[in-house]
Amino acid sequence: MHNPTRAELHALLKDAISGPDFARATFAGAARGASTEWVRVVVRPVEVRGARHVQFAYHGAKKVLTKNFEPDAIDDPLDELLLIGFAGVHVSARAEELDIRTSRKGRVHIGRSRAQVHSAAAAGTEHNRAKDVPLPEGRASHLLEVLGISTADGTVRPTMRAKFTQINEFLKHLSHALDDTELARLNRPVELLDCGCGLSYLTLAAHHYLNDVRGIPARVVGVDVNDEVIRKSMERAERAAAGSVEFACRRIGTADVPADVVIALHACDTATDDAIAQAVRSDARLLLCVPCCHHDLNRALGASAGDGVLRPVLRHGILLQRTADLITDAFRALALRICGYRTDVVEFVATEHTPRNLMIRAVRGAPAGDAAHVAEYQEMKRFWRVTPYIEKALGEPFQQLVRA
Ligand SMILES: C[S@@+](CC[C@H](N)C(=O)[O-])C[C@H]1O[C@@H](n2cnc3c(N)ncnc32)[C@H](O)[C@@H]1O
Repeated sequence: MHNPTRAELHALLKDAISGPDFARATFAGAARGASTEWVRVVVRPVEVRGARHVQFAYHGAKKVLTKNFEPDAIDDPLDELLLIGFAGVHVSARAEELDIRTSRKGRVHIGRSRAQVHSAAAAGTEHNRAKDVPLPEGRASHLLEVLGISTADGTVRPTMRAKFTQINEFLKHLSHALDDTELARLNRPVELLDCGCGLSYLTLAAHHYLNDVRGIPARVVGVDVNDEVIRKSMERAERAAAGSVEFACRRIGTADVPADVVIALHACDTATDDAIAQAVRSDARLLLCVPCCHHDLNRALGASAGDGVLRPVLRHGILLQRTADLITDAFRALALRICGYRTDVVEFVATEHTPRNLMIRAVRGAPAGDAAHVAEYQEMKRFWRVTPYIEKALGEPFQQLVRA
């Protein structure tokens, strides 16, 4: 099959970008041409003094540069991008998605699909975007295909339905919280840290959602102790042509990482506490975590179950476990309030998608060390006769607050 030349790709892209329905084009992925400091370039229509222009936003490791061009003056910037040779180019228009992938060997694959649902980028206002499903179903998505969630035509694989729902629900919470925290208006890329990222479903989805759907420049780091999942996640990021995403194989909280947003989806047992502590240490504006199994307090409560009015509850394994789950998350939410976060606990998804369906949402901005919260915390510890792991994870600064 004929491999398109650079001139042919230029003509194809210019045509798409000049169309009246054009919404956004993203150039990203390992460059195979001229060396470049840009990890991703986003092209979109903008209005300058009432006239349509085309904006090129160049995202580097530490800076973002934007340039606006008149529609008939995009030949040079487009040529520059094609010379850089980004591995992936994705163009969204109201009716069609265009996907151009270049393999390591230089083979170019061009995919086109009909946009069955209005693309969020094409839909217009911030308000409309927030209401849309973040990653709609039934529309070809290179990312969802790479993640093994959907087929090439956008059909969600039955075995991946629960994961698909979890990712979308998580992104909805992220989307709402973005407006609450002014994260969409930083004059630099948002730093997002995914703790216990596993095979990077949410990591790459959050990266795509922020950068490509919402147009919010974001750098994303996924951390996990398991070197095998980190290796696979790096491969996936490469195949998804996701620039500005990194992975690190280490325990949560063992390195100082700048983070505006910390997320954790089903990080096992006390790894959720470590993610919470990381968010507090990084002074993150936003934390969204969906806890997983709880073992720590389960053991401690079991040991103190010998006497008192709670004996009929704690003597049964299943009731002990559910009680420990509730208390663990109540301690976490309260500790976050003490640390100066407006915190609530909400249902994440319906139980048929996962029984681990509770989300702790915390937004920085309340006074730290509030006396009423500290008193509640001390009372809870006295009542249950336990010291939750979150206290250890948050360390000396927190212990000082609750001693005060
Ligand atoms: C149930 S998986 C969830 C993965 C991913 N967040 C998702 O929802 O698809 C939990 C992940 O947390 C990782 N993990 C557990 N404890 C950890 C720790 N202390 N530090 C870093 N990663 C941890 C595990 O290796 C595993 O990949």
